Amino acid sequence: MRSGVVLAAVLSVSTLACSKSAPEKVDLGPAALGAATASLDRAATAAHTGEFNPRLLRRFKPVREILIDGAPGSAEQVALGRMLYFDKRLSKNGTQACNSCHPLDNWGADGRPTSAGAEGALGSRNSPTVYHAAGYFAQFWDGRALSVEEQAKGPLTNPVEMGLKDGAHVESILRGIPGYKPLFAKAFPGEAEAITYDNVGKAIGAFERGLVTPSRWDAYLKGDKNALNAKEVEGLRVFTNVGCMVCHTGEFVGGTMYEKVGAVEPWPNQVDQGRFAVTKNETDRMVFKVPTLRNIGKTAPYFHDGSAKTLGQAVQMMGRHQLGLELSDEEVSSISAWLDSLTGDLPREYIKEPALP
Ligand code: HEC
Ligand code: HEC
Repeated sequence: MRSGVVLAAVLSVSTLACSKSAPEKVDLGPAALGAATASLDRAATAAHTGEFNPRLLRRFKPVREILIDGAPGSAEQVALGRMLYFDKRLSKNGTQACNSCHPLDNWGADGRPTSAGAEGALGSRNSPTVYHAAGYFAQFWDGRALSVEEQAKGPLTNPVEMGLKDGAHVESILRGIPGYKPLFAKAFPGEAEAITYDNVGKAIGAFERGLVTPSRWDAYLKGDKNALNAKEVEGLRVFTNVGCMVCHTGEFVGGTMYEKVGAVEPWPNQVDQGRFAVTKNETDRMVFKVPTLRNIGKTAPYFHDGSAKTLGQAVQMMGRHQLGLELSDEEVSSISAWLDSLTGDLPREYIKEPALP
């Protein structure tokens, strides 16, 4: 019956969960959990016949080609953003670029528990992937920036990342490289001084909005029922039935809300209090952005503190700490199999390292 209770929560909060404009915590308290369970039987029956309940599938969406609601950046902005993304001169000692911690040919993550910055000092958090980040409702584990354009300015001047002094320092480095002047002028026409810290963020953001990796999961959502094998469909069924989808939902199977890590069973590592550091609200202690699960099979280790080495371990911990469930080895294995179907194809041409000016 455990899945009945949790599925009711899935159904009762799902409208909120899908709404990008509602970056609030979803109430997972007894009231939500105790909501009507009538839909469970229908959902499960549908799943057992191999046809997945279309009402549940609608909680997910195939990934778009470009992650922007309005007009995309120009081709010149994208090309400039790609150069800036790879340019190590934008760090204190010329050793770090965005691509150092978010290597695009490695699904945008560096494979370390936490990342080393320009001076070798370790940051305190795991590097999340940059693929699909442009589509989230907020950036960083704690949501302290909203858009990728805003986010991109952060690492340049973060002392444990690229370590430049401030925005003026970024601008002076770029103005000292003659080849950048015409590129900025073309990307931002009509601006008297186009080399600005803001425009650096805009160009990198324009590039990041094209970082998407469509996968077999997208083919399945678009109607190709053979795109997933039986074990993967079973994994999807377990994922939705036990309640993972309450939090991991939508186009990115995450990236739509904040939630407490350790919602049921306290998280082992309480050093980083997450969103509390941003808002100072007691209710935000241990609250983090629910991350995407796209490409999750490729971005180990897991969690803000890098505390899970393998995907199976991460799934097990989520069951225990978020849902109060001890998932069986079989459940963990089928969920992991479905998660692997979310691994997409890298856009090899788009992410090719460009010649720098
Ligand atoms: C020294 C390693 C390092 C470098 C260099 C670095 N990052 Fe990051 N990046 C991180 C870490 C660690 C986080 C998570 C930090 C946090 O949440 O507080 C992060 C977070 C992000 C996010 C948010 C993703 C999400 O899931 O919310 C984006 C986007 C991003 N970085 C893009 C960039 C860009 C663009 C650059 C270059 C301008 C860059 N990063 C440089 C380590 C790095
Ligand atoms: C109550 C909300 C909630 C539920 C339910 C939930 N998660 Fe999570 N999940 C989160 C949050 C928040 C994080 C980020 C935690 C952190 O790193 O501190 C996360 C992180 C993860 C990660 C690691 C992502 C990464 O990039 O490091 C995986 C894998 C994951 N969840 C899978 C699952 C699975 C599988 C289930 C069901 C068994 C599940 N989650 C249930 C909220 C939830």
